[in-house]
Amino acid sequence: MSTVDIRRTGAVVVGAGIGGLATALRLAPMPVTVLSATSLGEGAASAWAQGGIAAAWSADDHPGLHAADTLAAAGGIADPAIVDTVTQAAPACIEDLIALGVCFDRGADGSLRLGREGGHHRHRIAHAAGDATGSEIMRALLVAARRTPSITLVEDAVAQELAVVDGAACGVIVRHRGAAVLFAADAVVLATGGLGGLYQHTSNPVTARGRGLALAARAGAALADLEFVQFHPTALDAGRDPMPLVTEALRGEGAVLLDKTGAPFMATLHPLADLAPRDIVARAVWRKQLAGDRVYLDARQAVGAAFPMRFPTVYGACRTAGVDPATMPIPIAPAAHYHMGGVAVDARGRSTVSGLWAVGEVASTGLHGANRLASNSLLEALVFGARAAADIASAAPRTASPQSAARSRVAGVDDPHDPAGMARLRRRMSASVGVERDATGLRQALDELNTLRRTASSRSLADAALVGALVSAAALRRRESRGGHCRTDYPASAPALARRSLLTLRDLDSSETTTPRMKEIVS
Ligand code: SIN
Repeated sequence: MSTVDIRRTGAVVVGAGIGGLATALRLAPMPVTVLSATSLGEGAASAWAQGGIAAAWSADDHPGLHAADTLAAAGGIADPAIVDTVTQAAPACIEDLIALGVCFDRGADGSLRLGREGGHHRHRIAHAAGDATGSEIMRALLVAARRTPSITLVEDAVAQELAVVDGAACGVIVRHRGAAVLFAADAVVLATGGLGGLYQHTSNPVTARGRGLALAARAGAALADLEFVQFHPTALDAGRDPMPLVTEALRGEGAVLLDKTGAPFMATLHPLADLAPRDIVARAVWRKQLAGDRVYLDARQAVGAAFPMRFPTVYGACRTAGVDPATMPIPIAPAAHYHMGGVAVDARGRSTVSGLWAVGEVASTGLHGANRLASNSLLEALVFGARAAADIASAAPRTASPQSAARSRVAGVDDPHDPAGMARLRRRMSASVGVERDATGLRQALDELNTLRRTASSRSLADAALVGALVSAAALRRRESRGGHCRTDYPASAPALARRSLLTLRDLDSSETTTPRMKEIVS
């Protein structure tokens, strides 16, 4: 692979989930190329989202109440200004989606049928097709994107590296059907999703391995809050990889978690019982499992015979596993579901690298803090897609020429798979950087992944190891428990640590033990 095909575009968006498509639509009429690593609509966690979009829509609700619930779930480190911005924008987001053709579920009187999920004190979650909200929004966004002449959609385009000239991002080098292509652009937007696929047990597509974080880290961007990984308490425990999600909306309808004796257990642990924030429920389920219990979600009373109609996605997954959720409790277990951490961005979606924006799960905006409130993620992707697009549209065109960056980097475009290496990495992440962590396990993970990122024979394994090492380093550094980060050796929250965290690749690279930052991390 010695030549590189160069294609010029106004902006290049890496990722074709909800955040990427929303950004591209908002950028019209600027020419935008959207890169999808797979066929369009596949491989994007957005399309799997069962939960919906939270918005203060009903008469008894207000964006201020939505903001209060978001802050309460977030463990004290969300950014209140960002929380206000996003929660205030939420009702307009729903209106925009309706205008785009999204069919939200409605009651008999035609009004939106609003559900409740963990941590919410009001019914404020708009769903589509019961538990297929993500797929319905993706459908509408893809129709709109295909109709927009300024948008070029490119499938099977796997981003390898950002082109950076004089410290500014000016394109993306991509592996596209065996060839190297440089998409040169004034603006690069990462919308690559999360990293659940780094874990052995995940509700995400297994290809969601933090590629955007690796790209941003190698380009020198600062990453924020990496230690905060959200584990969903109720994934279907039936031996499938990835694990099908059993939506929290079921608990919003009154479904209850049961221990192996059939007894409910959440009411003694939190005033919101089964609708406590997700980190609390996930830990409760995890601890039952550690004690040898199987845990179940019982929707027989709450949903019963309406299950196939109300929750068709979950129903189908359960039936495939031999469970009839209308008449049987559903076996569940926690699974890596969402990354609160990501590329550090400001209120416009700008990263610390000029020319580079990030939206959706790959970004860390400060909305989620240490634990994301349910159904705030699609919302954040839509709000920040619009904000990033507005910022890009108002930025002056640049003159950087990325060809030189491309020429030196097209070697290594082929990427042989190493399934055994990836399986080992995923086991290590689940064992040492999972629902509960301690210093011994985190050091072990950091050492192993740091070695692997330098020695892996495949680019995707090296990137996965890099991202795993960054998450492990951030988790080792935070010597307290907060939100989705639970240290068994530091079980309490430390008021002095109630702040967001930042990390760069240099902190790992300069030396694993000699920079002051790394000494602080590993000691
Ligand atoms: C769910 O449906 O339980 C997931 C919702 C979310 O991740 O916000």
